[in-house]
Amino acid sequence: MKTTIAQVYKYVEQEVRIGVWVANKRSSGKIAFLQLRDGTGFIQGVITKAEVPEEVFQTAKSITQESSLYVTGVVHKDERSPFGYELHVKEIEVIHHSIDYPITPKEHGTEFLMDHRHLWLRSKRQHAVMKIRNEIIRATYEFFNQNGFVKVDPPILTGSAPEGTTELFATKYFDEDAYLSQSGQLYMEAAAMALGKVFSFGPTFRAEKSKTRRHLIEFWMIEPEMAFCEFDENLMVQENYVSFIVQSVLKNCHLELITLGRDTSKLEQITAPFPRITYDDAITLLHEKGFDDIQWGDDFGAPHETAIAESFEKPVFITHYPTSLKPFYMQPDPNRAEVVLCADLIAPEGYGEIIGGSQRVHDTELLKKRLEEHQLNLDAYKWYLELRQYGSVPHSGFGLGLERTVAWISGVEHVRETIPFPRLLNRLYP
Ligand code: 4AD
Ligand code: MG
Repeated sequence: MKTTIAQVYKYVEQEVRIGVWVANKRSSGKIAFLQLRDGTGFIQGVITKAEVPEEVFQTAKSITQESSLYVTGVVHKDERSPFGYELHVKEIEVIHHSIDYPITPKEHGTEFLMDHRHLWLRSKRQHAVMKIRNEIIRATYEFFNQNGFVKVDPPILTGSAPEGTTELFATKYFDEDAYLSQSGQLYMEAAAMALGKVFSFGPTFRAEKSKTRRHLIEFWMIEPEMAFCEFDENLMVQENYVSFIVQSVLKNCHLELITLGRDTSKLEQITAPFPRITYDDAITLLHEKGFDDIQWGDDFGAPHETAIAESFEKPVFITHYPTSLKPFYMQPDPNRAEVVLCADLIAPEGYGEIIGGSQRVHDTELLKKRLEEHQLNLDAYKWYLELRQYGSVPHSGFGLGLERTVAWISGVEHVRETIPFPRLLNRLYP
C-alpha cells in the first residue's frame, strides 16, 4: 500500500511503500538505521542484515544523506520513538543518489545555513517551524470565519503610505510613482464599511534599516478591521484571537513543539483576558526597573519591551501611547488629546510587539488636520477621507505580525527562521 509517514499509524503490522529522503544514517555490521522523511513526517527505518537479501542491506549501508528512495517495509509500533512508529524495511529502490549534501549533522554557522536556506528547510527543526506557521495560518482562518469576519485582499501596489514615509519601497507604476504595501489597513477600513467585519492576510514590505532578531524587510500580516467597534472591543478580539492560535498550536503541533524543545507550560497559560497597562504606567514601571533615561514621549525599544513583558506571564497590552509617536489615523482619547486610543500587544519571553492596533479617526475634519500635521498629500488620501463623508462610524482594527508570532510560539530566537525565504537587510538570496 502506497502511503505517507503521517498515515503509517493506519497500517500497523502491515506492509507499506513510501517515497522518502534519507535525513541521516547509522549502521553497523548487522543493522542499519535510516532516519527517513517525506515532508509529512519523520520515521526510523530499520534494516537487519539477517532479514533482508544481502543487496538490500548493502544499499542501506551505502546510501547517502538526502538520497531519494521508495522503501517498502512493515510498520511497527515503537514506544521509544517520539513519533510512535518504526518501519522494518524489506526493499529499497533508489530514485536519486545524492552526493555531498552540504548540510551535515554537524553544527553550521548561521550565514552558511542562510546561504543554503533552500536546503536547510528540509531539516527537522525548520520543518517543525514551518508546520507551526501553517497551523497558525489555518487557525487564523478558522477563528475569523467562526466569528463572522470576511476575508478581503488589499492591493500590494499602492499610491499611499499608512505607516510613515521613511520605510517605503518605491517603484514605478508605468508613469506614476507607486509603493509596495506596508500595511493593507486603509483599504481594510474601506472594506469594513462594505462588509462589517473583515480580515486580510498578506505580505507587507518595509525598507527598515533595522538589523534585529525581530525585523524582516518582507513579512506577513493579519489585519482585521471592524465597523461599529471601539477601543475595548478591539482588545477583546485580539486576546481571544491570540489565545485561540496558541491553543490550536498546542493541540495540533505536539510533535513539532517537542522537536523544538518548546516549554509548553508557558504556552498553556496563554488564555484571555490579557493584562493591560497604559503607556504612562509602563514608563513608571521602567523607571522602577532602572531605566532612568526613558521619558514620557519616548518610544520603547526592544530592551524596554522585554523588561515590561518580564512582569507578566501572558502577553500584555500597552495602551494610550503619546499621539506624537503614532500614525495619523489613530483616534485621540476624548478625555486626553495628547494620547491615542491604541494598543501594542507585547509577547512574553522577550519576543516583543506582535500586534499594533487602534481605534481609527472617523471625523473628516480631524482626519484632514492629522494628515496635514503628518505632511501627507491630501489628494492621495481623497478616497480615504471619503469613507468619513458617507455614514462614518467608529471603527477599529489591528495588525498581527505573523513571523514574530511564529517565533514566540515556536520558541525560536530569530524571525529569519519563521518564514521560508527571509528577506533581510543584507539578503535577497536564495
Ligand atoms: O505596528 P505596525 O506597524 O501596525 C500597522 O501596520 C497597522 N497598520 C496594523 C493595523 O492596525 N491594521 O505593524 C503591525 C505588526 C507589528 O506589531 C509586528 O508584529 C509586525 O507587524 N511588524 C514586523 N514584523 C517583522 N518585521 C518587521 N519589519 C515588522 N514591522 C512590523
Ligand atoms: Mg507597531
